[in-house]
Amino acid sequence: MLLLSQFLKQQDTEDTLVDLIGTLMLACKEVAIQLREGELAGVLGSTDNTNVQGETQKKMDVIANDLLKKFLLDNPLVAGLASEEEDHPVGGNPEGKYLVIFDPLDGSSNIDINVSVGTIFSILELPEGMDPSQDEAYLQCGRKQVAAGYVLYGQSSVLALTTGHGVNFFTLAHTGDFILTREQVQIPADTKEFAINMSNHRFWEEEMRNYVGDLLQGSEGPRGKNYNMRWIASMVAEVHRVLTRGGIFTYPWDGRDPSKPGKLRLMYEGNPMSMLIEQAGGISSTCYKNIMDLEPQRIHQRSAVALGSKNEVEALLTYHAESG
Ligand code: AHG
Ligand code: MN
Ligand code: MN
Ligand code: MN
Repeated sequence: MLLLSQFLKQQDTEDTLVDLIGTLMLACKEVAIQLREGELAGVLGSTDNTNVQGETQKKMDVIANDLLKKFLLDNPLVAGLASEEEDHPVGGNPEGKYLVIFDPLDGSSNIDINVSVGTIFSILELPEGMDPSQDEAYLQCGRKQVAAGYVLYGQSSVLALTTGHGVNFFTLAHTGDFILTREQVQIPADTKEFAINMSNHRFWEEEMRNYVGDLLQGSEGPRGKNYNMRWIASMVAEVHRVLTRGGIFTYPWDGRDPSKPGKLRLMYEGNPMSMLIEQAGGISSTCYKNIMDLEPQRIHQRSAVALGSKNEVEALLTYHAESG
């Protein structure tokens, strides 16, 4: 039985990074406790506030955000943090080494129906001479991430983590320890499972409509096999399924609001999930470019996302490449 900290030390992870990941997990454990109590803890339902993304905040969005902030700002290694639920980055210790970017609660429309949600995080280093309370410090391309992961609060709470040496799963035990439960996760290259919010069909680009149309034709169509579909409305849960048994997950560009290049947020969702997917042998793309190669312009920037099993994502990309 290997604890998270023991495993990271075995991998020769820098002590400072082990320390920071430990702090993140203290906060996530608190989130898990609140979620487990649910109605009993009075944490279900919405607030009257709207976040910078234009969404009504759930009580748990705020609670999870406050917990992560509290624990992280207590750690002197943290130079600053940025969150989906914060208008602007929050400065920590200016001498600190790391910037932490997070989606405190992903899939928050699922909270009130007792379906899986999660916390997503991305860790960067503070570039020399940059101010950790300013957006510019955080606007680094996804390739610069030193670690990324999520905690899925499902039947059990599971941490999926990468520090750039593969992806490993750790399950939260009743003792409060995260224990290594799956090592060097690899996504199967082929799949018969896709995940997309079909209700947006009429707003997609023609390329995406053609691709999904071919999947729906099953074994009689050009793809030559019957596909199954899933939609949990929680990216963490979808990515966990993809890492566990393969699949393709996409939230593509759509024309509902031409000012938004997709729904998912590049810094809080796109980049950390892309690092996990690539580290597990999959592909993560906007449909035109690898997500981790994008140069972020704004902290709350959105992006189209298509990720998962290598051969399936490659097939999707050919529909887009053919159109030029
Ligand atoms: P969040 O709860 O952090 O705002 O993110 C929700 C995201 C993502 O988790 C999920 O894949 C997607 O939004 C669901 O969108 P729809 O409601 O359009 O299905
Ligand atoms: Mn949200
Ligand atoms: Mn989210
Ligand atoms: Mn969220």
